[in-house]
Parts: sequence; C-alpha cells; structure tokens
Amino acid sequence: MVTTGINPYLDGNFAPVQEEVTTEIQSIIGELPPDLSGMFVRNGPNPQFPPIGAYHWFDGDGMLHGVRIQGGQASYRNRYIRTQGFEIERKEGKAIWSGLLEPPQINNPYGPYKNVANTALVWHAGQLLALWEGGVPHAIQVPELDTIGEYTYNQQLKSAFTAHPKVDPVTGEMMFFGYSFSPPYLQSSVVSSQGQIQRTIPIDLPMGVMMHDFAITANYTIFLDLPLTFSMERIQRGEPMMMFEADKPSRFGIMPRHGDNRSIRWFEAPSCYIFHTLNAYEQGDEVILIACRMSSTSVLGESSDPQGDIPRLHRWRFHLPSGTTQEEPLDDHVSEFPRINENWLGRPNRYGYTSKMAGDRLPLFTGIIKHDLQQNRQYIHEFGSGRFGGEAVFAPRPGATQEDEGWLITFVYDSHQDCSELLVVNAQDMTGEPVARVILPQRVPYGFHGIWLEE
Ligand SMILES: [Fe+2]
Repeated sequence: MVTTGINPYLDGNFAPVQEEVTTEIQSIIGELPPDLSGMFVRNGPNPQFPPIGAYHWFDGDGMLHGVRIQGGQASYRNRYIRTQGFEIERKEGKAIWSGLLEPPQINNPYGPYKNVANTALVWHAGQLLALWEGGVPHAIQVPELDTIGEYTYNQQLKSAFTAHPKVDPVTGEMMFFGYSFSPPYLQSSVVSSQGQIQRTIPIDLPMGVMMHDFAITANYTIFLDLPLTFSMERIQRGEPMMMFEADKPSRFGIMPRHGDNRSIRWFEAPSCYIFHTLNAYEQGDEVILIACRMSSTSVLGESSDPQGDIPRLHRWRFHLPSGTTQEEPLDDHVSEFPRINENWLGRPNRYGYTSKMAGDRLPLFTGIIKHDLQQNRQYIHEFGSGRFGGEAVFAPRPGATQEDEGWLITFVYDSHQDCSELLVVNAQDMTGEPVARVILPQRVPYGFHGIWLEE
C-alpha cells in the first residue's frame, strides 16, 4: 500500500495505484451466476502525480477499474482516462494544475482547470462516456477501457455535462444539464435515443450553484437549485468562492421534458444539500422525488453545522395544483450513493439501494441497504469487520420480471488483508452470503460511480 502523508485522501485505500493491469481472475469465492454476463466498470480519482497545494478527493485523474464476467469466469483491467490534462502532465512529468481547494489558475498556459473525467459513466446510443461535471465527456472503448477522446456530439455540446445524466428506459432519450458560475447558470439538453442533441435551453437561476444531480419522471425534468452558491463578490472580498448559505431555501424546478424556462415551476423546501437522487416519478397530482438529503454540506469548505454532511434518504412530494411541498425522512441510517434498477427510472419504484456510511468524517461505506419503499423496511448487507465498499450498482437478471430480481455489485476493500474484491450480492437475499467474491489482482482505491454493461 502507498502511504503518501497526512492527507487522508492520499492515504490507505484512498491512495492511488500506479499500474495499469490486464489479467484473468484466478480466485473466486462462491460462484458467479451463469446468467450474469457483462462488465462492471467504476470511475474514480487516481492522481498521476503528487498534487500541487491542497488535495481534494474530487481532484484526482480519472481511472477506470473494470471486471468482465462471462460464463462464471472473470477478468480485470484498469486504465487511466487519458484526458488532455493527463497527457500534458505525463509529458511534463509532474502536476501542472492545482485542485478545487486552491484559487483558480487564471495564468496557467494550458487553461485554468483540468477536466479529470473522474466521476461517473453513462452508456447511451452505443457509446460509453466517462463524465466530469465541469467539462465535456470522454468516449471510452469497451471492453478495452481505452480513451477514444473528448465527445462533443459533433460540436453540438454547448454546456458542461453533469456526471449524472438520465436515460429514459422507455424512450431511450437521455437528459443532461450543465451548470456554470457565469450566466447562463444552467442549461438543459435532451439527446435522442440515436445520440443526437435535440435541444439545449437556458434555465434562469438567481445565482450560480453547484448542482451535482437532478431527476426525471416520464414527463418532467427536476432541477435542484440548492444553496451551495458561487459568488464573484465573495472572491473579491477574499472569501471562499463557494459557500453553503443556510438561510436560503432549497428550490426544486419541475419542467416538462420538452418545456423551457417559461414552463418550469419552482417549489420551495427547507435549506438542504443533495448530492444524489434515487428516483422521481409522477403519482396523481404529485411529483415524487427520493434523494439523500443533508441539512448542509462542507464539501468545499468549513461548516459549523453539527448535523451537516449526514445524508439520509428523504422523500419530497410536490403537489402540482397547489404548488406546495411536503418533505419526510424515509430511513434513519446514514447512507449515500443511491441506485435503483434503472429499468424503473422515472417510474414508481418499490426498491432502492444505498451504501451505508461508517459515520466517520471520511466517506467509508460498511454495507448496502435495500430499501423497500412500499413496506417501509430496510434490509442490510454488511461487508464485515474492516471491510469497506462503495456504490452498489444493480445488475438486473436477464429476463427478470420482478424489480429486485438481480445482483448488487460493488468493489470492497479489506483493510486487514490490504486487498480488494468485486462483491456480488443477490438483491433478493441481502442478509445471506454473497453470491460471489471475485478476488482482484491489485488494490482498487475508493472511488465514485460505476455502471453495469450487460453483454
Ligand atoms: Fe455523483
């Protein structure tokens, strides 16, 4: 294991790995289901060089770790995402860009920031894209995981690209947005099922905010205008550029999918921050949103809120005729990285999955929670002592008829053994033994979001 000093995000299993490996897996505990056929790929930060200045977990160069599963066998490979910034730094032999915690590098000859492509992945219109919310997506070759290059939709891409686009499982359309710290603060786009950007429209916001995720229903797109704000005046006063403004409400904008700034309706709720939504859907006169809510966030700075940075699953009901909002907690457990069976995206879902947090200041995950939203019950798969996982991705069983028929897949790091594995859990048997533990040939650092690509 590499230990690189006191920054916890460069230490232990947050520390980067150096090698790009391609190998068949020799050791599997349990049995990979014969009908589980495809590739699990996860994105995350893996700094190529020692950072300049303060290091934030969000700063590291994107690296993909992939496990391909076929006929009960598995193979592993990991690859850096070869962004322009990655290649420039490789040529220079050192870091050129500092990160989020340092002032923007307006005098950097290569540009003020590096698109690290390190956050998430989406598969749409036959293309895998690696995503980072500040810039353009990168096309990735499957199953090689080699970087093809920046993906601009034939120069039709007019905004940044969220790490959490939504693909409608019925129409095949993909909705995405891009936010900016100068007007237009928000732009919203629809991509056809064939992969053509159909339209990009500006959405009015009072000021620039950090918007990490959003949600869709069958007919609506829901934007999260939450008070993690950007202010040029604060920078001029020598204050941090981003701040959570607890005295400002949360605003939820509900727009018909093919609507625009005139047809959007805004609903207010108490101040909060949301990194990730679980799902949204329509029910009678209401639009329902389920997401992991925190009373505030210190993700980009200090916070005096003792209840801050503690995400719990919540539900909002937006009553369209009256414009009123109801908000309620769904679970006492502290959890994040919400996922569902994406065939239910935008439709009423019974089940959701989140990763249970250790309650530490570090984002360590000790298990997977299955939420039965209909029965209001939770089922927990614990990883065990000294074992920490990440986001659990739902892989539906081919031909499944039930929403929870499939497997939950995540990387787990065993701190006693200093090694990593791919964990496969039967989503209908959360408390039972894992179906399979695929022992990996190298440590997989903690990361962000993954995807299951069915063969
Ligand atoms: Fe995310």
